[in-house]
Amino acid sequence: MDLIVAADRNCAIGKKGDLLYSLPEDMKYFRAKTLGKTVVMGQRTLESFPGGKPLPKRTNVVISDDPAFTPDGVVIVRSFAELFAEIAKYPADEVMLIGGGSLYNALPDYCTRAYVTLIDAETEGADTFIPDFSRREGWSLESVSEPLETGGYTIRFAVYLNHNVKIFA
Ligand SMILES: NC(=O)c1ccc[n+]([C@@H]2O[C@H](COP(=O)([O-])OP(=O)(O)OC[C@H]3O[C@@H](n4cnc5c(N)ncnc54)[C@H](OP(=O)(O)O)[C@@H]3O)[C@@H](O)[C@H]2O)c1
Repeated sequence: MDLIVAADRNCAIGKKGDLLYSLPEDMKYFRAKTLGKTVVMGQRTLESFPGGKPLPKRTNVVISDDPAFTPDGVVIVRSFAELFAEIAKYPADEVMLIGGGSLYNALPDYCTRAYVTLIDAETEGADTFIPDFSRREGWSLESVSEPLETGGYTIRFAVYLNHNVKIFA
C-alpha cells in the first residue's frame, strides 16, 4: 500500500472536514496516481467528496465503525483487521491510502511510499495534520519535482520511501 496526500508547510491537510487548498494540478496528479486502483479512506473523507459519492473508476474501501453508515458503491470495513483482510485481496502496489488524518496517522508505516504534494503555504485554523515524512525515522526522500504554480500556490510533488514497511499482522 502507498499513501497520497497534499500538505502545507505545517503538515496541515484539512479544516472543518474540507481541504485547505484548491489545486487543479494536484487534482490531476491524484487522479493519475489512483485511477484503476483501490483507494482506502476514512468515513469523513468519503463524506467530503461531492455528494458523498465514491471516486469513479476506482475500488473505494471505506473504514467506519458506525453501523448506520452504509453508502452505495463502496466496500465498508469496520476495523483495521477487516481493512487488512480486504486489501490483501489486491496487489500491494495497487492500493492507495487517500485519507484522512486519522488513517494517515494510524497507518503510515504500513505504506511503502508516501506521495506528498508539498504546498508552499500555511493556513490558520487547520485542524487535521499528517506526520512529517521528511523527519520520520525509517523514511527518506526518494524524489521531488520542480516547483509548479497552480491555484495561486507553488507546489512540488515529493515521494518518500519507507525502509521498514510494517506487515499486517
Ligand atoms: N489534503 C489531503 O490530501 C487530504 C486527503 C484526505 C482528507 N483530507 C482531509 O482530512 C479531513 C478528514 O480526516 P479525519 O481524520 O477527520 O477523518 P477520516 O480519517 O477521513 O475518517 C475518520 C472516520 O473513520 C473512522 N475510523 C478511523 N479509524 C477507524 C478504525 N480503526 N475502525 C473503525 N473506524 C475507523 C472514524 O471513526 P471514529 O470517529 O469512530 O474513530 C471516523 O468515522 C478532512 O478535512 C479532509 O478534507 C485531506
